[in-house]
Amino acid sequence: MKHIIAGTDRPGSNTLKIAKYVQSLYKGLGEEVEIIDLHEMKAHFHAGLQYGNQSAEMKPYLDKVVGSDGLIVICPEYNGSMPGVLKYFIDHMKFPESFEFRPVSFIGLGGLFGGLRPVEHLQQVFGYRNAFIYPERVFIMNVHRTLSPEGQVQDELVDKLLKQQAAGFQKFTKALSAANLDANAIIAKKMQG
Ligand SMILES: Cc1cc2nc3c(=O)[nH]c(=O)nc-3n(C[C@H](O)[C@H](O)[C@H](O)COP(=O)(O)O)c2cc1C
Repeated sequence: MKHIIAGTDRPGSNTLKIAKYVQSLYKGLGEEVEIIDLHEMKAHFHAGLQYGNQSAEMKPYLDKVVGSDGLIVICPEYNGSMPGVLKYFIDHMKFPESFEFRPVSFIGLGGLFGGLRPVEHLQQVFGYRNAFIYPERVFIMNVHRTLSPEGQVQDELVDKLLKQQAAGFQKFTKALSAANLDANAIIAKKMQG
C-alpha cells in the first residue's frame, strides 16, 4: 500500500485537500493509498517517550511508513521551508528502514514558487537517507487560485502533471519491486539473514 504524507497540521489545509485528490487519482489507477494526516497525528506528538523511543500513540503512524510501498509527500511552503510538524514527523521515523531504498515522490504547494524550496530541502533529507526519489515533482503555484475552496484543482496543467506523476510513480514502484530493489524487499531480505 502507498501512503500520502499530508505535511502540515494546519486546520482546513490545502495540503489535505490535495492529498484527498491525489488519493483519488491513485485509486483510479487501482492502487490502495492511505493518507497520513499530520493534523490528526499531532494529538499524539507529545505523548510518551520521544524520538528513538517511539511513543505507543505515534507508533501506528510511523509503522505505516516502514511498510509502505511508496510515499507521496505533499508539502506546503511555510516561511521558505517545510512546516515544523513535517520535520518533527520525519525525525521520529525509524532509521534506516523508513528511508533506505524507499520510493518517495514529492508535491509542493505555495505562492509564487509552488513549494519548490521545501521540496528541494525534502529531497536533500530523503536523499541523504538513501531513499529512491522519483524525479518528476509537481509544484502547485498560487495555490489559493489553483485550488477551489472545495479542493478542486482548477488548473488544467497542474491536473495533468498530478495525473502524470501518479502514473509514473506507480510504474517506478512496480519496477523497483519487480527487481527486489525496493525498501520492503531489502527489509525482508535482511530479516531472512
Ligand atoms: C505560516 C505560513 C507561512 C507561509 N509562508 C510562505 C512562504 O514562505 N512562501 C510561499 O510561497 N507561501 C507561503 N505561505 C502560503 C502557503 O504556502 C499557502 O497558504 C498554502 O496553502 C499553505 O498550505 P496549507 O493550506 O496546507 O497550510 C505560508 C503560509 C503559512 C500558513
